Amino acid sequence: MTVPSLADARALDAADPLRPFRARFELPDGLIYLDGNSLGALPKATPAALDRVVREEWGRGLIGSWNAADWIGAPQRIGAKIARLVGAEAHEVVVADSTSVNLFKLLAAALARDPARRVILSEPGNFPTDLYVAQGLERLGLGARLKLVERERMADALDGEVAVLMLTHVHYKSGARHDMAALSAEATAVGALSLWDLSHSTGGVPVELDGSGADLAVGCGYKYLNGGPGAPAFLYVAERWQDLLASPLTGWMGHAAPFAFDDGYRPAPGIDRFLCGTPPVLQMATLECGLDLMLESDPAALFAKGQALCDMFITAVDRFAAGHSLELVTPREALRRGSHVSWRHADGYAVMQALIAEGVVGDFRAPDILRFGFAPLYNSFEDAWRAANTLHAVLAEGRWRDPRFAARQRVT
Ligand SMILES: Cc1ncc(COP(=O)(O)O)c(C=O)c1O
Repeated sequence: MTVPSLADARALDAADPLRPFRARFELPDGLIYLDGNSLGALPKATPAALDRVVREEWGRGLIGSWNAADWIGAPQRIGAKIARLVGAEAHEVVVADSTSVNLFKLLAAALARDPARRVILSEPGNFPTDLYVAQGLERLGLGARLKLVERERMADALDGEVAVLMLTHVHYKSGARHDMAALSAEATAVGALSLWDLSHSTGGVPVELDGSGADLAVGCGYKYLNGGPGAPAFLYVAERWQDLLASPLTGWMGHAAPFAFDDGYRPAPGIDRFLCGTPPVLQMATLECGLDLMLESDPAALFAKGQALCDMFITAVDRFAAGHSLELVTPREALRRGSHVSWRHADGYAVMQALIAEGVVGDFRAPDILRFGFAPLYNSFEDAWRAANTLHAVLAEGRWRDPRFAARQRVT
């Protein structure tokens, strides 16, 4: 691909069928926001929707809103909307808890299925919470064991001891995308379950859970889905497993009849048994707003644009990358990556802080990764072009060497 010009970028924006969506987000003028893979932008409709839920449903409807406003049905109703983005049936997805808690529930359920299988198989460098939750399960004294093997050796490591293969579909640092269908099939062939973390996939790349033969999945609501900071997460259990697996967090919302107030726990049929406690109604409302907006778009156009934005950014940075010690860690081939692009740089933290000071917001992942997320609903080709040029200026002029960019903040 030849190096794109600003005119090229603008021509692509002019032809972009998703262009009108940008105006439906509250993005500060002049800011190039490339962190929607970490915290999605605010849809303009969200404040009013939240205000309505707070003032009308909570303020006036009070307790009656559990029924009248269907607060009680939010986990399933919003789950059904997410199902459309991940290739699942409506009754296979619910919104609940955080991604970390959902990982715990599904890993524990997979371990409980077959006492002879004690291994959680994953890869080194998987997202920390995935590994930490598995390590917590190891410490529970159930004999569970986390085994980490590199991608290339995954097939060899799948054997009769593996209870569950736990992988993040799009890697949070490198952006590399696993072949979900191939790996799920390999897990199935040895009698193990597959559990996919879709946090960096949902709304960024096509996902076909049912079509891929995946068994279980989890994912975040606050990234590409634009559900707001701390929005609840979702979980998927393929229909064939729903009545065979049990949640270890046997709260009343997962009971067969929560309002019968029985002393004894009886799991709800279907996916509802993976609910635990009362849903966070206000954050459910912001998540639903973000989702409703995304579901207005054509998924094929969405995913094609995400790939094209990443392609343009890679090409535009490539021309100066070598001269400034930037190493691309994301696969160049669009089908092998997600919707973010990462470059390694020894002074990555300071470089990212300098970029943010110039109005280009990406993030930094220790020890040396500069990460740029492209959210196809609101990022433009001009954003990609300008971000590359600002990165060039920051590096060429050494702006990142200013000592104020070296001081690490708590969130990077
Ligand atoms: C792959 C992955 N899994 C999980 C999480 C976060 O989980 P939680 O919402 O429980 O903090 C993230 C957050 O960035 C992530 O990238």
